[in-house]
Amino acid sequence: MEWTQKHLLGLEDYSAAEITCVLDVADDFRPLVARNDAPRDDLSGKAVINLFFEPSTRTRTSFELAERRLGATVIHFDVAVSSTSKGETLVDTARNIEAMGGIDIAVMRHGASGAPQLLARSISASIVNAGDGQREHPTQGLLDLLTIRQHRGRIAGLHVAIVGDIAHSRVARSNLYGLLKLGAEVTFVGPTTLVPGAFRKLGAQVAHNLDDVLPHVDVINMLRIQTERLEEQPFPSIREYSRLFGLDAQRLQRAKPDVLVLHPGPINRGVEITPDVADGCRSVILDQVTNGVAVRMAVLSLVAQARKSL
Ligand code: CP
Repeated sequence: MEWTQKHLLGLEDYSAAEITCVLDVADDFRPLVARNDAPRDDLSGKAVINLFFEPSTRTRTSFELAERRLGATVIHFDVAVSSTSKGETLVDTARNIEAMGGIDIAVMRHGASGAPQLLARSISASIVNAGDGQREHPTQGLLDLLTIRQHRGRIAGLHVAIVGDIAHSRVARSNLYGLLKLGAEVTFVGPTTLVPGAFRKLGAQVAHNLDDVLPHVDVINMLRIQTERLEEQPFPSIREYSRLFGLDAQRLQRAKPDVLVLHPGPINRGVEITPDVADGCRSVILDQVTNGVAVRMAVLSLVAQARKSL
């Protein structure tokens, strides 16, 4: 298919064909991730700025690797020593950076839901959303899809449980949009305070008993509690949360023998997942991280292609 999307703001905006196209291109890039070859020229002569207003290990590092492997000039915006601390707005900051000339793509993570859309309306660079507030984390959704497809050969017809703090999770929303578009079934699982029934309106099934759901699913995607976004503790204690919704080896025995265990990271070991499960034979958590580089290479190269025809 001909790629025409200038931005990647969220999977809600992408069709099934577009999502499949990114996954196919990422599949082609995957063998390159482990090799330290000379850079490709997909982004040669292009400048990419990484604007991270929230902490990140996986997303930021994998975007940088992807940008360098595609031959881009990479610029980091260091929030801690920037003039945002003096009251400059996001749009003013971005317009000033753009006025320095030659920014083609801005990769942005921000704590405010909708910040990438605001930037896309304000500057002429392509915007790639690296996570905005509680709204979307589209490249995480794509790398989760790629990992599932790598191990199962398909997405359609699979049943995926996403477990934990759904209410505050941009990862859950991007996964939901992508999985439903590609024909999977999705069940959100967690306490009522973190998994409100309103998610049914988006097409998810909602459940509050993990043990009942486990035997029926092909994939379990465990999420951490987003403590930085909580106004009050949504359950009596971490210990009780772990007992009811944590994945340990004993609970995993209730699942199908070939179930896949995913986690977007960062992991809180011993809270939502025990170390033996996180590092065990059903876990594909490090495959997700590797696929993150391939997916980000695919997104950047497709967005750069689309810019040529604008
Ligand atoms: N999964 C994810 O977004 O991790 P980081 O916050 O480390 O980027």
